[in-house]
Amino acid sequence: MDRLNELWARGKEFLGTEYAILGGAMSWVSERHLVSALSNAGGFGVIACGSMTPDLLDREIAATKEMTDKPFGVNLITMHPQLDELIDVTLAHKVGHVVLAGGIPPGGAIQKIKDGGAKVICFAPALVLAKKLIRSGVDALVVEGSEAGGHIGPVSTSILVQEILPHITEVPVFVAGGIGRGETIAAYLEMGAAGVQLGTRFVCAEESIAHENFKKAFIKGNARDAVTSVQLDPRFPVIPVRALKNEATEDFMKTQQDVINKYQAGELDLKEAQLAIEHYWAGALKKAVIDGDVQGGSVMAGQSVGMVKSIQPAKEIIEELVEQAAAHLAIK
Ligand SMILES: Cc1cc2nc3c(=O)[nH]c(=O)nc-3n(C[C@H](O)[C@H](O)[C@H](O)COP(=O)(O)O)c2cc1C
Repeated sequence: MDRLNELWARGKEFLGTEYAILGGAMSWVSERHLVSALSNAGGFGVIACGSMTPDLLDREIAATKEMTDKPFGVNLITMHPQLDELIDVTLAHKVGHVVLAGGIPPGGAIQKIKDGGAKVICFAPALVLAKKLIRSGVDALVVEGSEAGGHIGPVSTSILVQEILPHITEVPVFVAGGIGRGETIAAYLEMGAAGVQLGTRFVCAEESIAHENFKKAFIKGNARDAVTSVQLDPRFPVIPVRALKNEATEDFMKTQQDVINKYQAGELDLKEAQLAIEHYWAGALKKAVIDGDVQGGSVMAGQSVGMVKSIQPAKEIIEELVEQAAAHLAIK
Protein backbone atom coordinates (compact mmCIF):
# COMPACT_ATOMS: atom_id res chain seq x y z
CA MET A 1 0.00 0.00 0.00
CA ASP A 2 2.93 2.36 0.72
CA ARG A 3 4.21 2.05 -2.84
CA LEU A 4 0.72 2.66 -4.23
CA ASN A 5 0.27 5.74 -2.04
CA GLU A 6 3.63 7.03 -3.19
CA LEU A 7 2.82 6.45 -6.86
CA TRP A 8 -0.51 8.23 -6.86
CA ALA A 9 0.29 10.89 -4.23
CA ARG A 10 0.11 13.69 -6.80
CA GLY A 11 -3.27 12.52 -8.08
CA LYS A 12 -4.67 12.11 -4.55
CA GLU A 13 -3.53 15.54 -3.60
CA PHE A 14 -4.93 17.08 -6.76
CA LEU A 15 -8.35 15.49 -6.21
CA GLY A 16 -8.34 15.70 -2.42
CA THR A 17 -9.23 12.01 -2.13
CA GLU A 18 -8.06 8.81 -0.49
CA TYR A 19 -7.54 7.12 -3.87
CA ALA A 20 -6.63 8.73 -7.21
CA ILE A 21 -9.54 7.05 -8.99
CA LEU A 22 -11.97 9.22 -10.93
CA GLY A 23 -15.42 7.90 -11.72
CA GLY A 24 -15.64 9.10 -15.33
CA ALA A 25 -18.82 11.07 -15.94
CA MET A 26 -21.43 9.01 -17.77
CA SER A 27 -24.51 10.80 -19.09
CA TRP A 28 -27.70 9.63 -17.30
CA VAL A 29 -25.67 7.28 -15.06
CA SER A 30 -23.41 9.69 -13.17
CA GLU A 31 -25.96 11.53 -11.09
CA ARG A 32 -26.19 12.16 -7.35
CA HIS A 33 -26.35 8.50 -6.25
CA LEU A 34 -23.34 7.07 -8.10
CA VAL A 35 -21.30 10.27 -7.74
CA SER A 36 -21.77 10.47 -3.96
CA ALA A 37 -21.19 6.72 -3.55
CA LEU A 38 -17.86 6.91 -5.41
CA SER A 39 -16.72 9.94 -3.44
CA ASN A 40 -17.83 8.41 -0.13
CA ALA A 41 -15.82 5.28 -1.05
CA GLY A 42 -12.61 7.32 -1.35
CA GLY A 43 -12.72 7.89 -5.10
CA PHE A 44 -13.76 10.99 -7.01
CA GLY A 45 -17.28 11.04 -8.44
CA VAL A 46 -18.05 13.33 -11.38
CA ILE A 47 -21.56 14.50 -12.27
CA ALA A 48 -22.33 14.18 -16.00
CA CYS A 49 -24.08 17.40 -16.95
CA GLY A 50 -24.71 16.15 -20.50
CA SER A 51 -27.61 18.15 -21.89
CA MET A 52 -28.94 19.30 -18.48
CA THR A 53 -30.14 22.89 -18.20
CA PRO A 54 -28.36 25.17 -15.71
CA ASP A 55 -31.35 24.80 -13.38
CA LEU A 56 -31.21 20.99 -13.43
CA LEU A 57 -27.46 21.02 -12.87
CA ASP A 58 -27.96 23.38 -9.94
CA ARG A 59 -30.37 20.90 -8.34
CA GLU A 60 -28.13 17.91 -9.08
CA ILE A 61 -25.11 19.52 -7.45
CA ALA A 62 -27.16 20.58 -4.41
CA ALA A 63 -28.55 17.03 -4.05
CA THR A 64 -25.10 15.48 -4.37
CA LYS A 65 -23.79 17.77 -1.64
CA GLU A 66 -26.56 16.44 0.59
CA MET A 67 -25.25 12.91 0.05
CA THR A 68 -21.51 13.46 0.49
CA ASP A 69 -19.18 15.91 2.13
CA LYS A 70 -16.27 14.55 0.09
CA PRO A 71 -14.94 16.24 -3.05
CA PHE A 72 -16.64 15.58 -6.38
CA GLY A 73 -16.50 17.18 -9.82
CA VAL A 74 -18.78 18.26 -12.65
CA ASN A 75 -18.31 17.28 -16.31
CA LEU A 76 -19.47 19.88 -18.83
CA ILE A 77 -19.70 19.31 -22.57
CA THR A 78 -17.99 22.19 -24.37
CA MET A 79 -20.57 22.44 -27.18
CA HIS A 80 -23.48 22.87 -24.73
CA PRO A 81 -25.20 26.11 -25.83
CA GLN A 82 -25.35 27.32 -22.22
CA LEU A 83 -21.77 26.43 -21.24
CA ASP A 84 -21.23 29.84 -19.67
CA GLU A 85 -24.28 29.57 -17.40
CA LEU A 86 -23.37 26.00 -16.46
CA ILE A 87 -19.93 27.21 -15.38
CA ASP A 88 -21.60 29.94 -13.28
CA VAL A 89 -23.79 27.35 -11.53
CA THR A 90 -20.81 25.08 -10.84
CA LEU A 91 -18.70 27.92 -9.46
CA ALA A 92 -21.58 29.24 -7.32
CA HIS A 93 -21.65 25.81 -5.62
CA LYS A 94 -17.89 25.97 -5.08
CA VAL A 95 -17.37 22.65 -6.86
CA GLY A 96 -13.60 22.21 -6.84
CA HIS A 97 -13.04 20.51 -10.20
CA VAL A 98 -14.60 20.94 -13.63
CA VAL A 99 -13.98 18.41 -16.38
CA LEU A 100 -14.43 19.87 -19.86
CA ALA A 101 -15.31 17.21 -22.42
CA GLY A 102 -16.38 17.03 -26.04
CA GLY A 103 -13.59 18.80 -27.87
CA ILE A 104 -11.04 21.53 -27.30
CA PRO A 105 -12.64 24.02 -24.88
CA PRO A 106 -13.19 27.64 -25.88
CA GLY A 107 -10.30 29.76 -24.49
CA GLY A 108 -12.52 31.83 -22.22
CA ALA A 109 -14.02 28.79 -20.47
CA ILE A 110 -10.73 27.57 -18.95
CA GLN A 111 -9.88 31.04 -17.63
CA LYS A 112 -13.37 31.63 -16.28
CA ILE A 113 -13.33 28.38 -14.29
CA LYS A 114 -9.86 29.09 -12.90
CA ASP A 115 -10.75 32.67 -12.01
CA GLY A 116 -13.77 31.27 -10.19
CA GLY A 117 -11.48 29.16 -8.01
CA ALA A 118 -12.00 25.69 -9.49
CA LYS A 119 -9.51 23.38 -11.18
CA VAL A 120 -9.90 22.49 -14.85
CA ILE A 121 -9.42 18.98 -16.22
CA CYS A 122 -9.43 18.37 -19.99
CA PHE A 123 -9.09 15.37 -22.30
CA ALA A 124 -5.87 15.22 -24.31
CA PRO A 125 -6.29 13.08 -27.43
CA ALA A 126 -2.69 13.61 -28.62
CA LEU A 127 0.65 14.97 -27.30
CA VAL A 128 0.47 18.27 -29.24
CA LEU A 129 -2.99 18.92 -27.86
CA ALA A 130 -1.85 18.02 -24.33
CA LYS A 131 0.87 20.67 -24.62
CA LYS A 132 -1.57 23.20 -26.08
CA LEU A 133 -4.03 22.60 -23.24
CA ILE A 134 -1.28 23.07 -20.66
CA ARG A 135 -0.37 26.39 -22.30
CA SER A 136 -4.06 27.35 -22.05
CA GLY A 137 -3.85 26.80 -18.28
CA VAL A 138 -5.51 23.42 -17.61
CA ASP A 139 -4.66 21.93 -14.21
CA ALA A 140 -4.80 18.24 -15.17
CA LEU A 141 -5.32 16.02 -18.19
CA VAL A 142 -7.18 12.81 -18.90
CA VAL A 143 -5.70 10.58 -21.58
CA GLU A 144 -8.46 8.29 -22.82
CA GLY A 145 -7.94 5.49 -25.31
CA SER A 146 -10.38 3.91 -27.71
CA GLU A 147 -11.11 0.92 -25.43
CA ALA A 148 -13.38 3.26 -23.44
CA GLY A 149 -17.16 3.34 -23.50
CA GLY A 150 -19.01 6.27 -25.06
CA HIS A 151 -17.50 8.79 -27.49
CA ILE A 152 -13.97 7.78 -28.37
CA GLY A 153 -10.91 8.78 -30.35
CA PRO A 154 -9.08 6.52 -32.77
CA VAL A 155 -6.03 5.60 -30.66
CA SER A 156 -5.83 2.89 -27.96
CA THR A 157 -4.87 3.61 -24.36
CA SER A 158 -1.69 1.53 -24.64
CA ILE A 159 -0.37 3.80 -27.41
CA LEU A 160 -1.56 7.11 -25.96
CA VAL A 161 0.13 6.48 -22.61
CA GLN A 162 3.46 5.86 -24.34
CA GLU A 163 3.08 8.95 -26.50
CA ILE A 164 1.97 11.28 -23.74
CA LEU A 165 3.01 10.16 -20.23
CA PRO A 166 6.82 10.41 -20.65
CA HIS A 167 6.51 13.96 -22.01
CA ILE A 168 4.07 15.64 -19.63
CA THR A 169 5.27 16.53 -16.16
CA GLU A 170 3.73 19.98 -15.75
CA VAL A 171 0.31 18.71 -14.65
CA PRO A 172 -1.07 15.43 -13.29
CA VAL A 173 -2.26 13.03 -15.99
CA PHE A 174 -5.09 10.53 -15.40
CA VAL A 175 -5.37 7.50 -17.68
CA ALA A 176 -8.75 6.21 -18.90
CA GLY A 177 -10.07 3.59 -21.27
CA GLY A 178 -10.08 -0.16 -20.78
CA ILE A 179 -9.19 -0.31 -17.10
CA GLY A 180 -10.96 -3.21 -15.44
CA ARG A 181 -8.52 -4.36 -12.75
CA GLY A 182 -6.09 -2.87 -10.25
CA GLU A 183 -2.96 -4.40 -11.80
CA THR A 184 -3.51 -2.16 -14.82
CA ILE A 185 -3.92 0.85 -12.57
CA ALA A 186 -0.55 0.01 -10.95
CA ALA A 187 1.08 -0.32 -14.38
CA TYR A 188 -0.10 3.11 -15.57
CA LEU A 189 0.99 4.70 -12.29
CA GLU A 190 4.43 3.17 -12.72
CA MET A 191 4.55 4.71 -16.19
CA GLY A 192 4.00 8.15 -14.67
CA ALA A 193 0.23 8.56 -14.45
CA ALA A 194 -1.04 10.45 -11.40
CA GLY A 195 -4.23 8.42 -11.29
CA VAL A 196 -6.89 6.77 -13.41
CA GLN A 197 -10.46 7.26 -14.63
CA LEU A 198 -12.93 4.40 -15.00
CA GLY A 199 -16.48 4.45 -16.33
CA THR A 200 -17.65 1.02 -17.50
CA ARG A 201 -16.57 -0.71 -14.28
CA PHE A 202 -18.86 1.56 -12.19
CA VAL A 203 -22.08 1.20 -14.22
CA CYS A 204 -23.11 -1.87 -12.20
CA ALA A 205 -22.46 -0.29 -8.85
CA GLU A 206 -25.39 -1.00 -6.55
CA GLU A 207 -25.91 2.76 -6.17
CA SER A 208 -26.00 3.40 -9.94
CA ILE A 209 -29.54 4.24 -11.10
CA ALA A 210 -29.02 2.59 -14.48
CA HIS A 211 -32.02 0.37 -15.35
CA GLU A 212 -31.64 -3.29 -14.38
CA ASN A 213 -31.74 -4.26 -18.08
CA PHE A 214 -28.77 -1.97 -18.69
CA LYS A 215 -26.87 -3.57 -15.82
CA LYS A 216 -27.81 -7.09 -17.00
CA ALA A 217 -26.48 -6.27 -20.48
CA PHE A 218 -23.16 -5.25 -18.90
CA ILE A 219 -22.93 -8.41 -16.80
CA LYS A 220 -23.66 -10.54 -19.87
CA GLY A 221 -21.45 -8.57 -22.26
CA ASN A 222 -17.95 -9.62 -23.34
CA ALA A 223 -15.13 -7.37 -24.49
CA ARG A 224 -15.84 -8.23 -28.13
CA ASP A 225 -19.47 -7.10 -27.82
CA ALA A 226 -18.45 -3.49 -27.08
CA VAL A 227 -18.06 -2.29 -30.65
CA THR A 228 -17.59 1.08 -32.33
CA SER A 229 -20.20 2.69 -34.52
CA VAL A 230 -19.49 2.06 -38.21
CA GLN A 231 -19.51 4.77 -40.88
CA LEU A 232 -20.66 3.56 -44.29
CA ASP A 233 -19.74 6.56 -46.41
CA PRO A 234 -17.16 9.32 -45.86
CA ARG A 235 -19.65 11.93 -47.08
CA PHE A 236 -21.87 11.11 -44.10
CA PRO A 237 -19.80 11.35 -40.94
CA VAL A 238 -20.59 9.14 -37.97
CA ILE A 239 -19.29 10.10 -34.54
CA PRO A 240 -17.34 7.11 -33.18
CA VAL A 241 -19.07 5.68 -30.11
CA ARG A 242 -18.31 2.40 -28.34
CA ALA A 243 -21.42 0.52 -27.23
CA LEU A 244 -22.70 -3.04 -26.88
CA LYS A 245 -23.92 -4.36 -30.21
CA ASN A 246 -27.70 -4.71 -30.32
CA GLU A 247 -30.68 -4.27 -32.66
CA ALA A 248 -30.05 -0.51 -32.84
CA THR A 249 -26.44 -0.95 -34.03
CA GLU A 250 -27.72 -3.25 -36.81
CA ASP A 251 -30.57 -0.89 -37.67
CA PHE A 252 -28.17 2.05 -37.81
CA MET A 253 -26.32 0.40 -40.71
CA LYS A 254 -29.58 -0.08 -42.56
CA THR A 255 -30.64 3.52 -41.84
CA GLN A 256 -27.35 4.83 -43.20
CA GLN A 257 -27.79 2.78 -46.38
CA ASP A 258 -31.40 3.96 -46.81
CA VAL A 259 -30.37 7.60 -46.33
CA ILE A 260 -27.46 7.25 -48.76
CA ASN A 261 -29.81 5.67 -51.34
CA LYS A 262 -32.28 8.54 -50.93
CA TYR A 263 -29.45 11.04 -51.35
CA GLN A 264 -28.28 9.30 -54.51
CA ALA A 265 -31.84 9.24 -55.85
CA GLY A 266 -32.08 13.00 -55.26
CA GLU A 267 -34.79 12.61 -52.59
CA LEU A 268 -32.61 14.27 -49.89
CA ASP A 269 -29.94 16.94 -50.26
CA LEU A 270 -26.52 16.45 -48.66
CA LYS A 271 -27.33 18.48 -45.53
CA GLU A 272 -30.66 16.70 -44.94
CA ALA A 273 -29.02 13.32 -45.38
CA GLN A 274 -26.17 14.18 -42.99
CA LEU A 275 -28.65 15.36 -40.37
CA ALA A 276 -30.76 12.23 -40.70
CA ILE A 277 -27.69 10.15 -39.84
CA GLU A 278 -26.44 12.53 -37.15
CA HIS A 279 -29.81 12.49 -35.39
CA TYR A 280 -30.19 8.72 -35.38
CA TRP A 281 -28.75 8.30 -31.88
CA ALA A 282 -30.45 11.34 -30.31
CA GLY A 283 -31.97 10.27 -27.00
CA ALA A 284 -30.69 6.70 -27.45
CA LEU A 285 -28.53 6.56 -24.30
CA LYS A 286 -31.40 7.73 -22.09
CA LYS A 287 -33.66 5.13 -23.74
CA ALA A 288 -31.26 2.38 -22.65
CA VAL A 289 -30.05 3.70 -19.27
CA ILE A 290 -33.35 5.04 -17.93
CA ASP A 291 -36.10 3.21 -19.86
CA GLY A 292 -34.20 -0.08 -20.03
CA ASP A 293 -34.63 -0.49 -23.81
CA VAL A 294 -31.29 -2.20 -24.39
CA GLN A 295 -32.17 -3.30 -27.93
CA GLY A 296 -33.53 -0.02 -29.28
CA GLY A 297 -31.24 2.31 -27.32
CA SER A 298 -27.51 2.87 -27.07
CA VAL A 299 -25.78 0.69 -24.46
CA MET A 300 -22.53 2.64 -24.32
CA ALA A 301 -19.86 0.41 -22.78
CA GLY A 302 -16.10 0.01 -22.90
CA GLN A 303 -14.21 -3.19 -23.66
CA SER A 304 -13.65 -3.72 -19.93
CA VAL A 305 -17.36 -4.68 -19.81
CA GLY A 306 -16.17 -8.29 -19.94
CA MET A 307 -14.74 -7.81 -16.45
CA VAL A 308 -18.06 -6.62 -14.99
CA LYS A 309 -19.48 -9.75 -13.39
CA SER A 310 -22.01 -8.63 -10.79
CA ILE A 311 -23.75 -5.75 -9.10
CA GLN A 312 -21.57 -4.59 -6.19
CA PRO A 313 -21.53 -1.58 -3.87
CA ALA A 314 -19.26 1.19 -5.23
CA LYS A 315 -17.08 0.84 -2.14
CA GLU A 316 -16.49 -2.85 -2.84
CA ILE A 317 -15.52 -2.17 -6.48
CA ILE A 318 -13.06 0.55 -5.45
CA GLU A 319 -11.58 -1.55 -2.67
CA GLU A 320 -11.12 -4.49 -5.04
CA LEU A 321 -9.27 -2.28 -7.53
CA VAL A 322 -7.07 -0.78 -4.79
CA GLU A 323 -6.24 -4.22 -3.34
CA GLN A 324 -5.33 -5.60 -6.77
CA ALA A 325 -3.09 -2.59 -7.45
CA ALA A 326 -1.40 -2.79 -4.04
CA ALA A 327 -0.89 -6.57 -4.27
CA HIS A 328 0.60 -6.26 -7.75
CA LEU A 329 3.09 -3.65 -6.57
CA ALA A 330 3.97 -5.64 -3.44
CA ILE A 331 5.04 -8.77 -5.33
CA LYS A 332 7.45 -6.91 -7.58
C1 LIG B 1 -22.51 4.85 -20.54
C2 LIG B 1 -21.36 5.84 -20.68
C3 LIG B 1 -21.63 7.19 -20.81
C4 LIG B 1 -20.59 8.12 -20.89
N1 LIG B 1 -20.89 9.46 -20.94
C5 LIG B 1 -19.87 10.37 -20.91
C6 LIG B 1 -20.15 11.77 -20.84
O1 LIG B 1 -21.31 12.19 -20.80
N2 LIG B 1 -19.09 12.64 -20.81
C7 LIG B 1 -17.79 12.19 -20.82
O2 LIG B 1 -16.87 13.02 -20.79
N3 LIG B 1 -17.49 10.87 -20.89
C8 LIG B 1 -18.51 9.96 -20.92
N4 LIG B 1 -18.19 8.62 -20.90
C9 LIG B 1 -16.77 8.20 -20.74
C10 LIG B 1 -16.43 8.00 -19.26
O3 LIG B 1 -16.46 9.20 -18.55
C11 LIG B 1 -15.03 7.40 -19.05
O4 LIG B 1 -14.02 8.29 -19.49
C12 LIG B 1 -14.85 6.07 -19.77
O5 LIG B 1 -15.95 5.24 -19.50
C13 LIG B 1 -13.55 5.42 -19.32
O6 LIG B 1 -13.28 4.25 -20.01
P1 LIG B 1 -13.87 2.79 -19.59
O7 LIG B 1 -15.30 2.81 -20.04
O8 LIG B 1 -13.02 1.87 -20.38
O9 LIG B 1 -13.71 2.65 -18.10
C14 LIG B 1 -19.24 7.67 -20.87
C15 LIG B 1 -18.98 6.30 -20.76
C16 LIG B 1 -20.01 5.37 -20.66
C17 LIG B 1 -19.69 3.90 -20.52
